[in-house]
Amino acid sequence: MNIFSGKKILLGVTGGIAAYKSTFLTRLLVKAGASVRVILTPAARDFVTPLTLSTLSKNPVLSSFTNEDDDNDLWNNHVDLGLWADLMIIAPATANTMSKMVTGNIDNLLLAVYSSAKCPVYFAPAMDLDMYKHPSTTANFEKLASYGNYMIPAGDGELASGLSGKGRMAEPEEIMSFVGKQLEQDLPLFGKKCLITAGPTHESLDPVRFIGNHSTGKMGMALAHNLANRGAQVILIMGPSSVNSEHYFIHRIDVTSAQEMYDTVHKHIAHQDYAIFSAAVADYRPATTADQKIKKSADTLTIELVKNPDILASVGAMENRPFLVGFALETENELEHAFAKAKKKNTDLLILNSMKDKGAGFGTDTNKITMIDRLGNAEVFPLKSKELVAKDIIDEVIKRTQ
Ligand code: C5P
Repeated sequence: MNIFSGKKILLGVTGGIAAYKSTFLTRLLVKAGASVRVILTPAARDFVTPLTLSTLSKNPVLSSFTNEDDDNDLWNNHVDLGLWADLMIIAPATANTMSKMVTGNIDNLLLAVYSSAKCPVYFAPAMDLDMYKHPSTTANFEKLASYGNYMIPAGDGELASGLSGKGRMAEPEEIMSFVGKQLEQDLPLFGKKCLITAGPTHESLDPVRFIGNHSTGKMGMALAHNLANRGAQVILIMGPSSVNSEHYFIHRIDVTSAQEMYDTVHKHIAHQDYAIFSAAVADYRPATTADQKIKKSADTLTIELVKNPDILASVGAMENRPFLVGFALETENELEHAFAKAKKKNTDLLILNSMKDKGAGFGTDTNKITMIDRLGNAEVFPLKSKELVAKDIIDEVIKRTQ
């Protein structure tokens, strides 16, 4: 998974020799998991065929309002296309198209879509070196940037004219990297760091047995994904769980026991902006772990347990600690216990679940929470999917840390 996966991208291709590179760009975008719709200017059709681009993009290619020349029968609604897209890339962008983008001269479908698109627009100029340097061109670069478009600068090198200089369209890989970095930077939590604990812990009795609980890690995973989708770098410290965490902004570290989770948290907690402790950590572990499987003998077996370190409380006691969110799963006197826990562990926000609420707690895909803050305010939320609960929690964290 990467920043392009699932993105809806309009690729505008104008009439320049660099149009051949748009075929490679289409392929890279599709390979990265994006849905790509290509729009050609009429002049671009002289340089690259709709058949090539429709095959690579797996979508019909559009180039006119009326479809006479296109390989589909639909009216090409520029407003719909503009609204459909998450981003638009115009590559190559000729001097002619750029000047029309500046002045609002809408004489083809690509320009109509550009002017009605609400999404970020990137343009990759391509032209001969003297055209690139011409004052009208450089003025247009500035104008287009001032309208909020992102320019992907051309490179230096051999040009189609045989001359050498600035004007070569950026290579498809460079365009991918430029757009990818900008998309990341535009995410609201870009640059923020968050550590999350999730899942259960397993405390070994012997090589084959452990003391554990029913936590699946789904809530912590939903939190990790919500943060990562908003651009935060997430360290997810996960107890034994089969839940999948693949995301380019999530660094997952698998642990087994509470002690291992504690050590891993303290190795990474410095410089975090937020820490969310959603793991169901075992409060006790066996005093000793047998080297060999414990054999069945007497009718009763007593196991001595010793207390595990409280990871959340240990971070709550740190001097320069991140904004701290804890969880409390209660079965009785929920609010009273949760208030006491928030105070004892020094959390900024405590998320209370009650086992009495249907659909809340371990294993389910839903949760019902009450948020408790340092001032003793309690906000009750309705039953929601864990994804929407994660959104509510992260929205609240952002609100309180701005
Ligand atoms: O005390 P209790 O286990 O109910 O507290 C729950 C909260 O404390 C959760 O946020 C949990 O992740 C955290 N916790 C912890 N280390 C422990 C026990 C609980 O971080 N040993």
